[in-house]
Amino acid sequence: EPIASMPGVFRHSLDLLKEEIKDLYKHGIKAVNVYVKVSDNLKDNTGKESWNPNGLMQAAIKLIKDTEPNMIVMPDVALDPYSVYGHDGIIEKGEVINDATVDALVRMSLSHAEAGADFVAPSDMMDGRTFAIRQAFEESGFTNVGIISYAAKYASAFYGPFRSALDSAPVDNQEIPKDKKTYQMDFANSREAIREVLDDVDEGADIIMIKPGMPNLDIVAKVREIITQPIAVYQVSGEYAMLKAASQNGWLDNDKVILESLHSIKRAGADLIFTYFAKEASLL
Ligand code: PBG
Repeated sequence: EPIASMPGVFRHSLDLLKEEIKDLYKHGIKAVNVYVKVSDNLKDNTGKESWNPNGLMQAAIKLIKDTEPNMIVMPDVALDPYSVYGHDGIIEKGEVINDATVDALVRMSLSHAEAGADFVAPSDMMDGRTFAIRQAFEESGFTNVGIISYAAKYASAFYGPFRSALDSAPVDNQEIPKDKKTYQMDFANSREAIREVLDDVDEGADIIMIKPGMPNLDIVAKVREIITQPIAVYQVSGEYAMLKAASQNGWLDNDKVILESLHSIKRAGADLIFTYFAKEASLL
């Protein structure tokens, strides 16, 4: 199914995902970050569908590894697609509660590792989850499964198209927080980003993520000076949407802005770039 606010990006059923993975690999793309859209009847406030061994994510991970064993699979770890409230955590008394959410994220991560994930990519911003996931992996024999930790993730309006693609936006309800600002970062704050990154490095993250991309290249450059671990930068859905919309209107040159935007992210210090332009960029 096409995603209206992200022209050129699709939600894939498993049979078509198989073809897409073969195609991506042929284009030289060696790693994929995976998200699922969960049907409403499977959503609740515990996120238990997220560790269902036969869930859509687990099936997708297996299918990708069966189709192309060399494709690195990095499933998203967060509760929002599974949450009736559209939050990345479990809600109690009107708040997203950190520690119970971490327990759920650990179960979800273990189920991804069992399905064959190479990395897990926790995007939830709960505190302490990188350490908890690392510890659970060590205890369960998944010593070679890595963690890409979304370490400096800002509460950003640039996630809009993604949330409509997954039907995962926080729902309108007086009883719950209206936005994600209690766990994602304030975009006016830069020192907190450094602290979040250093915490995740201490907790055992193999790769740290900064997100969104272009609005935060100052943070990328600063973090590059401070840590030696690889840095991933996520060029998010809103960044894709604005460049695509302007290109489709003939206001920007599609190919040139793809390359310029990706180069700016690389120049700031990214070792890896998560981008919806991956396939297009591979042809430029
Ligand atoms: C949620 C998640 C989001 C994105 C990745 N994981 C949205 C959010 O935090 O609300 C955004 C990705 C994008 O916009 O491309 N765990």
